[in-house]
Amino acid sequence: MRILGIESSCDETAAAVVEDGVNVLSDVVASQTEIHNRYGGVVPELASRRHMEIIASVTQAALDKAGISSREIDAIAVTHGPGLIGSLLVGLSFAKALAYGWKVPFIGVNHLEGHLLSIFLEVDVSFPYIALLASGGHTSLYLAEDFGKYIHLGSTLDDAAGEAFDKVAKLLSLGYPGGPIIDRLALKGNAAAISFPRANLSVPGFNFSFSGLKTAVVNYVRRLAKEDIANQTADIAASFQEAAVDMLVRACQGAVLQLKVDRLALSGGVAANSRLRSRLKELFSSLGKELYLPKPSLCTDNGAMIAHAGYRRLIKGFTSSWDLNAYACLRL
Ligand code: KG4
Ligand code: ZN
Repeated sequence: MRILGIESSCDETAAAVVEDGVNVLSDVVASQTEIHNRYGGVVPELASRRHMEIIASVTQAALDKAGISSREIDAIAVTHGPGLIGSLLVGLSFAKALAYGWKVPFIGVNHLEGHLLSIFLEVDVSFPYIALLASGGHTSLYLAEDFGKYIHLGSTLDDAAGEAFDKVAKLLSLGYPGGPIIDRLALKGNAAAISFPRANLSVPGFNFSFSGLKTAVVNYVRRLAKEDIANQTADIAASFQEAAVDMLVRACQGAVLQLKVDRLALSGGVAANSRLRSRLKELFSSLGKELYLPKPSLCTDNGAMIAHAGYRRLIKGFTSSWDLNAYACLRL
C-alpha cells in the first residue's frame, strides 16, 4: 500500500510517498527559510502564499523520486492541524482535490501524532514509551500506550522550546530558524560561562517553561555593550542551550523514572539538537533504559511522518470525510 503524505502546517511544504507504512520511497521538503529569515520568524501570510505556489511541484517531485505515477497511490494523508490556519488549508484543500480526482481515500492527520510516530519510520518501538515532542510550536510529554492512544503528561506553560531557540537567535541577530544556528554556534562557546535560570515548576505534572529563560537572556544581552555581545555570542548561545536542554532532560528523566517506563522516543525539530541528543544518550545509558532518536531530517517537519501516521489510521479502517476542516489548535 502506497500513501502520499502531505505536510504544510508551518513553513515547510513537504510531500512523501511511503510504502506499507515504513518504506520511504521519497521525502521531499521545500523549506521557506529564505522567505522568513529576514523577519526572524515565520510570517503566516507569506507562508501560505508560498505553499500555494509550490505544493503541486513538491508533490510531483515526491511522485517522480518514488518512481511512480499518481495511479499507484492508494491513499493520501494530510496534516489538518495544529498549525498556521492558512498554511494548513492549502495542504488540506490540495490533498482533498487530489484524493477526489484520483478516487482514493484521504486521511486527516494530527501533526503532533505525525511527530510522535516519526521514529517508526526507522525502527519499531515497543509500547509503552514516553514521547518528548519538542518543536517550534509545541513542547509536550506523552505516555504512548499504543497507536492512537497517547496520555498527555505535561506541556510548556508558555513558549515552546524551539520558539525559545528562535527568539534567542533573533535577539542575537543570528537568523532563522534559530535552533540549528545556536546548536552549531554553541559548539564554540562555553556552556558554563553564564548561569541562566532553569524553571523549576511547582505545578503538578511534567510541565515546562521557557519564557523566563528567554527573558533572562534578553536582560543579560541588554546590559552588554555592542562589542561585548559580539565577543560573547558563542558563550551566550552555549549557556542558553545548556539551560534549555537541562529542563528537557530533567523532565524526561522524571517521566521514565516516576512512571517506570523503560523507553523514550524524541521527536520534533528540537530533537535534532546535538547537545540534547548527547545528554539524553548519556543519561539513558546510565539508567539502562532505551532511547530512540530519529535522524535529524525526521525530527523536523516532513511528509513521511504524516504518511506513516495516516497508514496507522487507515489500517484500522479510518478515513476522513470531505468536510474535514483545518484547525489551528488540535489536541492529540
Ligand atoms: O518540528 P518543526 O520542524 O516544526 C514545528 O512543528 O514547529 O520544528 C521547528 C523548530 C524550530 O523552532 C527550530 O529552531 C527547531 O525546531 N530546531 C532546533 C534544531 N533544529 C530545528 N532546535 C534546536 N536545535 C536544533 N538543531
Ligand atoms: Zn512540526
